[in-house]
Amino acid sequence: MCGIVGAVGQRPVMEILLEGLRRLEYRGYDSAGVALWNGEQLQRLRRAGKVQALSDAAAEQPLAGGLGIAHTRWATHGKPTEGNAHPHMSGERLAVVHNGIIENFEPLKAQLQAEGYPFSSDTDTEVIAHLLARELARQPQHDLVAAVAAVTGQLEGAFALGVISADQPDQLVAARKGSPLVIGVGLGGENFIASDQLALLQVTDRFMFLAEGDIARLTCDAIQVWNAAGEPVEHPVVQYEHGTSAADKGTFKHYMLKEIYEQPEVVKATLAGRTSNGRLLEQAFGAEAGAIFDQVRQVQIVACGTSYHAGLIAKYWLEELVGIPCMVEVASEFRYRKVVLPQGTLLLTISQSGETADTLAALREVKERVLASLAICNVPGSSLVRESDLSLMTNAGPEIGVASTKAFTTQLVALLLTTLALGRRHGLAEADEQRIVTDLQQLPQLLQQALELDPAIRQMAQAFAEKQHALFLGRGTLYPVAMEGALKLKEISYIHAESYPAGELKHGPLALVDKEMPVVTVAPRNDMLDKLKANLQEVRARGGELFVFAGCAQEVKPESGVQVLEVPQVSSELEPILYTLPLQLLSYHVAVLKGTDVDQPRNLAKSVTVE
Ligand code: F6R
Repeated sequence: MCGIVGAVGQRPVMEILLEGLRRLEYRGYDSAGVALWNGEQLQRLRRAGKVQALSDAAAEQPLAGGLGIAHTRWATHGKPTEGNAHPHMSGERLAVVHNGIIENFEPLKAQLQAEGYPFSSDTDTEVIAHLLARELARQPQHDLVAAVAAVTGQLEGAFALGVISADQPDQLVAARKGSPLVIGVGLGGENFIASDQLALLQVTDRFMFLAEGDIARLTCDAIQVWNAAGEPVEHPVVQYEHGTSAADKGTFKHYMLKEIYEQPEVVKATLAGRTSNGRLLEQAFGAEAGAIFDQVRQVQIVACGTSYHAGLIAKYWLEELVGIPCMVEVASEFRYRKVVLPQGTLLLTISQSGETADTLAALREVKERVLASLAICNVPGSSLVRESDLSLMTNAGPEIGVASTKAFTTQLVALLLTTLALGRRHGLAEADEQRIVTDLQQLPQLLQQALELDPAIRQMAQAFAEKQHALFLGRGTLYPVAMEGALKLKEISYIHAESYPAGELKHGPLALVDKEMPVVTVAPRNDMLDKLKANLQEVRARGGELFVFAGCAQEVKPESGVQVLEVPQVSSELEPILYTLPLQLLSYHVAVLKGTDVDQPRNLAKSVTVE
């Protein structure tokens, strides 16, 4: 949600800022802007629309300077207009970019207006600019860090900030609380800030992660950081782990397609070093994990969106293989509910970004009341990982497409490893562990085979391009897979899609079925297949057109109105992982046929750092 880039250097930084914004565009793309100190004054350029509109404007109206901040927005307060685009300024001498939401901006705004500060936008951010200007005017020494400390103390909500001032043109000041912000340590004579490391891989691969409440001052040659109590602190400089090409589209038309195709490789990376001789290596969870797992009596999973769907699948695994109760809830509900957490509860959060506001808030809300917290996450230095007791990384590499694909399947792999780790402490037979570990080793190859369905799925997608609605059905662990399939289709093709456990059809949704309602089903050859086939008959009898991904075409026969694609045979535990791929490809091809913006679907953003 919103992307920030900032730079202070001995060379012109405009191009670095624009390239940073392009790389952050997945975080929000409704307007963009930049402010630069050109040696005499602060210059600002903003445009509604994508970063390209800002780039085009910059080509006609070049800005130069070695100190600047830039922003790509996902609108919360105020429409996506040029006037609401960041940076926001107070007068001509101070500019601010902000990611997050200031919850008490209304009383602050009223107070500032009463004091005569003029407002030109509908945003919550503009209050920060005026509060800073007021604070600087009160301070004889005009210290920007002191002003940011005083102002952030008045703000309620979440923020990551980048601030520059014409009165201190040698420095860039940054602050964070509740929204991500990382410092890029330059290779000499320059330093940077950004919402995500990806934005800065063009200039550095060394990063420093700010903690909650930190304020930092960056100059060309130095980085100073103070904690929430105002004490100087030092954070380690960490080397970026993934190759720098991980964030490139390569020869693929879209990031989403590239990320779908990366799944065999990233599943392998998520398994790497975590099993040996057919057994799980428990140390993957940290040295103290074993003692904690011994005491677990129930698991509470909390997550949002696609990550929530991964949690729903893990519930089937945990209850079946470990035999302990597992509850799963979306974080936005969980965090505001009076939840009962029996003794011995392991809080398991799942998040690609590790910065999702609701998931983080849920962790903070109950952290003190649970046995321990475990984060399954794709971003090592993220807030969720830092604030959890234990973590297991999904080594999916950067996921740029807004619709989550490889993050989901690697989350499932990590959750199955978690199931094995808990199972070992709660009576899962060694032979079962070995069987599942062996199956997991085969999974990358099976995923590769599933990708070979791509041309056939592209054909199948044509039947959806003119449709307004679609229904997704599954049973058991394949029901959350159907949920994920429906979410993918709606978010990138804008077709209304719903998912149901197939057994629920006759309790209501069957009324929707006619020839205009394509029904997608995931039907592996398992214990539930006969029951599922009966449900599919109910659809055929009402004229519904069926699109079936089946484990065995002998069992579900293609006929008029029934298209069947055969998915490779796989063990029952791994079905939800394998069957996800064809549904991802189906959504992708439908979206391409419809001509939507696949990687940046309307109204969405990748990392939901506001609630
Ligand atoms: C859907 C999607 C979202 C995210 C959700 C949680 O394709 O990407 O539903 O899964 O916003 O995000 P993370 O996993 O970063 O917490």
